[in-house]
Amino acid sequence: MTQEQASVITIFGGSGDLARRKLYPALFQLYRHGILRDHFAVIGTARRPWSNEYYRDIIATSLEGEAGAVSDAVHAFASHFYYQSHDVTDADHYVTLRKLSSELDDRYQVGGNRLFYMAMAPRFFGIIASHIRSEHLLSANGYNRLVIEKPFGRDFASAKELNDSINAAFDEDQIYRIDHYLGKEMVQSLMAVRFANPMFKAVWNHDYIDNVQITLAEAVGVEERAGYYETAGALRDMVQNHIMQLIAYVAMPEPESLTPNAVHQAKRSILESLKPLTPEDAAENFVRGQYVGDTPDQPDYVQEEGVAADSKTETFVAGRIELTDSAWTGVPFYVRTGKHMTRKSTQITVNFKPTKQNIFAPVGCNELAANSLTIFVEPEEGYRLVINGKQLGQDFHIGQFPLNFRHDANAIANAPEAYEHLLQDALAGNQTNFTRWHELKATWQYVDKIRQAWDASDVMPTYKSGSMGPDAAAALLAKYGDHWSWDGSAND
Ligand SMILES: NC(=O)c1ccc[n+]([C@@H]2O[C@H](COP(=O)([O-])OP(=O)(O)OC[C@H]3O[C@@H](n4cnc5c(N)ncnc54)[C@H](OP(=O)(O)O)[C@@H]3O)[C@@H](O)[C@H]2O)c1
Repeated sequence: MTQEQASVITIFGGSGDLARRKLYPALFQLYRHGILRDHFAVIGTARRPWSNEYYRDIIATSLEGEAGAVSDAVHAFASHFYYQSHDVTDADHYVTLRKLSSELDDRYQVGGNRLFYMAMAPRFFGIIASHIRSEHLLSANGYNRLVIEKPFGRDFASAKELNDSINAAFDEDQIYRIDHYLGKEMVQSLMAVRFANPMFKAVWNHDYIDNVQITLAEAVGVEERAGYYETAGALRDMVQNHIMQLIAYVAMPEPESLTPNAVHQAKRSILESLKPLTPEDAAENFVRGQYVGDTPDQPDYVQEEGVAADSKTETFVAGRIELTDSAWTGVPFYVRTGKHMTRKSTQITVNFKPTKQNIFAPVGCNELAANSLTIFVEPEEGYRLVINGKQLGQDFHIGQFPLNFRHDANAIANAPEAYEHLLQDALAGNQTNFTRWHELKATWQYVDKIRQAWDASDVMPTYKSGSMGPDAAAALLAKYGDHWSWDGSAND
């Protein structure tokens, strides 16, 4: 159901990469679908001195290639955009911003609603939040919401400091912490698969599940993001947030309802049940790696521009994670992510246990294979369930048969992009697909232990660009008698 949302949206970092590549196209799609219509205005802020006209040209350029971006629609949409040169560290600048916000509120009859989007380097998040409050940008007669980009801290201590500074200005129910994976169709689909299918509900526990595997493989290297990546690495960039959220969705108990509180409560119970790591556990169960070129024209990570020659930043992580939640006793969650892997693909595979009772042994089927369910998150989106069946023929041979579904490319192209989902949710006041502090607290505390173990060691295995990571990642699972599940084909 399309319901128009009225708001003055202020984007801090309005000239930046995220705003241009993700936010403006997402806002345009919301406009196209009538969620933003007449009663909205967007204020873009950054230090550079742009005019409104120049800013609107930037908006139009950012929409090139977007569905529905015909000239009239783009022009009408861009007319709602206003640029305000603003240094976020200068309290005086917020006075101009406050005046512009209330002027636009009157002009577009927005009713006092304010959405503040922090699309800037995280070191500014705290100061922006506190100036918004101290310089009276908060509206008294509508809602006030703050959307915060990742990364939310670089360890537990910095995340807590950031959280405290934001909480001093905004209440938890006004804070929308982005993990854009939660805006992805197939991540949202995890709840549908788990809780709308009795056949899965019945077997979703340690009695029937042997292990769960999550792979977030990227084909690209560090590209132009070396400056940021050197301060983060794969563990902070991908594991603490996206992978942990995926674990929460796979493992959480069925929430009482789809309300934000019920879903967060369910996720929190799982993330707080991450089995605490000793330094020995962390060293034993987590593998890091750095890519090296496979051919002379491919640089090693340490040869990339902006990367220190002796960098110890990992571009790959694999790990074995356990939960203390009673539903998951003894079930490992194997996770891995890396840059310059074989191909871009995010896949979640649930490997079930083979049936204990095998009535087929007398006809020669001594070992029955286990079932598995794979959820393809991106770029292909779909499901594969592998079942056992009888092979055609006179003899009774049992084979494995994959039941496959993939959304077609057109449907994927027309479906809302993650940022469109998330912006729509933030405008509608729905916090379900955002992260809450207790989730971040639990995941940072867990990840900090891995970081500490790695910082105490010089071991940095390498892997060839285009591979699935260092040999140690395969050895990690082999140690437990397992192997990585992975569909290497673009389409099955
Ligand atoms: N880019 C992505 O794809 C992506 C993906 C996920 C998350 N993120 C997150 O999104 C945030 C923004 O990333 P980005 O890639 O868009 O960064 P970016 O391209 O470097 O943009 C930074 C923005 O901040 C503005 N700025 C810097 N200092 C300022 C100051 N003192 N006062 C006011 N404005 C200032 C810059 O404009 P001026 O120089 O004109 O001031 C620019 O608009 C970061 O937290 C990042 O981690 C980005």
